[in-house]
Amino acid sequence: MKKYTSLNDINNLQETINKAILLKKDPFKFSSIGKNKTLVMLFFNASLRTRLSTEKAAKNLGMHVSVLNISNAWSLEFEDGTVMNLTSSEHIKEAAKVISQYAEIIAIRAFPSLKNKEKDASEFVINNFIKYAEVPIVNMESATDHPLQALADAITITEFKTVKKPKVVLSWAPHPKALPHSVANAFVHLMHKMEVDFTITHPKGYELDTSITKDTLIEHDQHKAFENADFIYTKNWSSYLDYGKTTNKFSNWMITKKNLGNAKFMHCLPIRRNVVAEDEVLDSDNSLVIKQANNRTYATQIVLKQILENL
Ligand code: CP
Repeated sequence: MKKYTSLNDINNLQETINKAILLKKDPFKFSSIGKNKTLVMLFFNASLRTRLSTEKAAKNLGMHVSVLNISNAWSLEFEDGTVMNLTSSEHIKEAAKVISQYAEIIAIRAFPSLKNKEKDASEFVINNFIKYAEVPIVNMESATDHPLQALADAITITEFKTVKKPKVVLSWAPHPKALPHSVANAFVHLMHKMEVDFTITHPKGYELDTSITKDTLIEHDQHKAFENADFIYTKNWSSYLDYGKTTNKFSNWMITKKNLGNAKFMHCLPIRRNVVAEDEVLDSDNSLVIKQANNRTYATQIVLKQILENL
């Protein structure tokens, strides 16, 4: 693997899931593959799981890890030809090349603005690092994608499915803040690559990018969508059509113990209790959220291992 910025960078998804499950059983099996190699993690935004699980994954492979919160560094300029006499102090051209001297792999988290659809869609942070860095890039959640989360979710569904082709529902849920589409996009992308019966449910007005959802079944009646579901993956996202907007309507889309039924509950975390899902859901045996978070380590570890093997 030369980089990991999308699920498409995985050659054989099922084989990669199986290898990650084996790594989970024996996490230090390849503890020297990253010896004398450094992972630099750049955070433009907050994180709990991604930061700690990525660090753990890299250390399980014997790597050194450096973490930089970009808010503590010089403010970066991404435009070409800019006269840098305002707030930006350093251009991505220098920054990416300099960081490449300190790292064998650079991992980046950079959320969208949710204000400028075209700019967010251009993935200018990740793509400029790909353009100017001299080492492989890993996406730790970008403007439109979260492929490490999706791979962890693939592992979790594989571990917990009880039928060959489970019914999986991605449900929009309420949230007081406007949130990105990245996790939902990545999950849709994943579902198109797995053997599942997949439905998306959301209130009208919360359609995702149709170039990503393609011909996925969309059911606006959440109750109907949940019938016979094996897994209900819940996530809020802001409107894509009315880009980045959200309303405080649809609080009745919260996941309750009653509407979950016997389905397994999934969410990438962090989650707002009693807004997105009620306590009874999160505290029940049907909730997989802690297991999903644990699988973040092994998803990242298999990705880093495959990149290290190709350096
Ligand atoms: N799921 C996830 O990416 O969590 P963090 O935002 O805490 O990293």
